[in-house]
Amino acid sequence: MNNLAVVGAQWGDEGKGKVVDLIAPRFSVVVRFQGGPNAGHTVVFGGRTHALHHIPSGIFHDGVRCLVGAGALVDPGRLIEELDGLLEAGVAPRGRLLISGKVHVILPLHRALDGAMEVRLGTSAIGTTRRGIGPAYAAKVQRWGIRLGDLADPERVARELARALDSGIADWCRALGAEVPEPADAARDAEAWWQRLAPVTGNVTRELHEALAAGRPILFEGAQGALLDVDHGTYPFVTSSSTVAGGIPASLGIAPRAVEAVLGVVKAYATRVGAGPFPTEDTGRLGDALRKAGREYGTTTGRPRRCGWFDAPAARHAVQINGLDALAVTKFDVLSGIDPLRIAIGYRIDGGEIDDLSDVGDAWDRVEPVWEEHPGWSEPLADARRLEDLPARARAYLDRISELAGAPVALVSVGPDREQTIIAPDGLLGAFGRGD
Ligand code: IMP
Repeated sequence: MNNLAVVGAQWGDEGKGKVVDLIAPRFSVVVRFQGGPNAGHTVVFGGRTHALHHIPSGIFHDGVRCLVGAGALVDPGRLIEELDGLLEAGVAPRGRLLISGKVHVILPLHRALDGAMEVRLGTSAIGTTRRGIGPAYAAKVQRWGIRLGDLADPERVARELARALDSGIADWCRALGAEVPEPADAARDAEAWWQRLAPVTGNVTRELHEALAAGRPILFEGAQGALLDVDHGTYPFVTSSSTVAGGIPASLGIAPRAVEAVLGVVKAYATRVGAGPFPTEDTGRLGDALRKAGREYGTTTGRPRRCGWFDAPAARHAVQINGLDALAVTKFDVLSGIDPLRIAIGYRIDGGEIDDLSDVGDAWDRVEPVWEEHPGWSEPLADARRLEDLPARARAYLDRISELAGAPVALVSVGPDREQTIIAPDGLLGAFGRGD
């Protein structure tokens, strides 16, 4: 097999950045297909932590081409900062990075609307990252968006923005107390952004078609997670894009069959940032312990993450809606010393039990987990490099979550560093290896 998708199988922050960085050398191309700077992919190596928001996590490997496809978003100012940060770290993305000219641009207007709407919603806010994601995707499907390639023509940007403002967007801004942008300012921004971004903008779909025709292996890098998918997540507490594997071909303009296998990344427990259903959340001592041990604070916003136990119905849902072939289980080391451990194996609603998350409907506030307890282990796992190195109880826990989720485990992460990883010898990843 050549082409693999790596997607989040919970509420985001599963550790996809580490997994993608680790396996990227097995591929020629790494491509992001959705989301924007709401994502925060952390890659740790050589004692340094690198946070990526737009740029694929393959960028730290010289021979790997990194692409961003049409279904993603970029915030040009932040993207330029990200490029500068990479240059400072000695990584030269130029020549290895290409962003589709069809990617929609997050304008200051979108960020302002995102923040103003969240403030208006008060206690019923979504808890967005306030990066302008929802309004920028809304602009795209309402057909008043600006695309990255449009920045080449600043006058056009001004014209398109003026047209959008006239169509009612200016009234919307005023109603929310958000500043109404000046088209002439947008044109000036566009000109400055384009100077920096023109060299990394181009035809990603064509490049993917060439890679596919030549049999060059491609890694599709997801952002956020299955339960944040706009259609299949815990709507309306979701992000505004298709986070699942099915979104890949539509976003990139390639055939569905190009996605040959899908790896879902799950934490060994669960976290969520922002508001919305989280049945296994522990708001007490244990949640605090997980937050501390797992350093569970958002990469993008620094917000403390809500923490809780592994949710098997949610994982099963992720397996089904993505067609996951295998799981990568991350942060396994964090569970050492917690005894007993719990797993939600199903949900109870009004006394009746269900094990399929899609049967919850709008009854999320009445969901109670059905728990199973597991004996914990005290041994640290950070030095484990083979499945045999894990204590028997840790192996049993891993086997159980795999069984409940309905997918085999292909990779286990026992610490943030690249080396702190166990790859299952006969697992899915054995099928990928750039011909070597
Ligand atoms: P938005 O994507 O900024 O609109 O936020 C919508 C929801 O998705 C909020 O609950 C965010 O906290 C969540 N979210 C968005 N991106 C990420 C991510 O990369 N990791 C975890 N949660 C995210």
